[in-house]
Amino acid sequence: MTADVPKEIERVLISEEEIAAKVAELAKQVDADYAGKEILLVGVLKGAVMFMADFARALSTPVSMEFMAVSSYGSSTSSSGVVRILKDLDREIADKHVLVVEDIIDSGLTLSWLLRNMRSRGPASVEVVALLRKPEAAKVNVPVKYVGFDIATEFVVGYGLDYAERYRDLPFVGLLRPEVYSTSG
Ligand code: PRP
Repeated sequence: MTADVPKEIERVLISEEEIAAKVAELAKQVDADYAGKEILLVGVLKGAVMFMADFARALSTPVSMEFMAVSSYGSSTSSSGVVRILKDLDREIADKHVLVVEDIIDSGLTLSWLLRNMRSRGPASVEVVALLRKPEAAKVNVPVKYVGFDIATEFVVGYGLDYAERYRDLPFVGLLRPEVYSTSG
């Protein structure tokens, strides 16, 4: 199925079909690695919602799901590494196999903080699955076991990723036309 591409999108970077294939591939790897165990998926709001929903359904391993919302201090385009919890986990994660689900790793600062925070709660293990990563934007080195796609440092939206809270609902990942983010407030 080919989705309509809004005019603000310069081009589709990763199609719906490519995302679906990658989600299945990542789920297969995770199923193999966690055979006989249960996984606690921790989705990071809001960007990870689409990926979390598809990834959870692609897994055969039994999972439970938790969500966390965090906000980094500083401008919306560059995170500072200082993170504030907007919504914490609802449950303890001690002795659980935690798999943090992220839509994108940019500077890595959010994830770096989040991993420290998760580890301090005494889980049996903590790993990360991220659909997208921008290796050239990394400010800290974060160990990420499962990565879908490494992409260039460009402004991407869709499949959970927003610009000013829009475009999260696009079924693909696309490049936003520069005039969209250079002309608005
Ligand atoms: C995005 C993304 C990661 C973080 C990555 O979230 O979902 O959590 O930024 O950036 P970093 O590697 O530079 O720290 P954002 O703060 O945009 O919130 P959202 O998911 O609600 O859109």
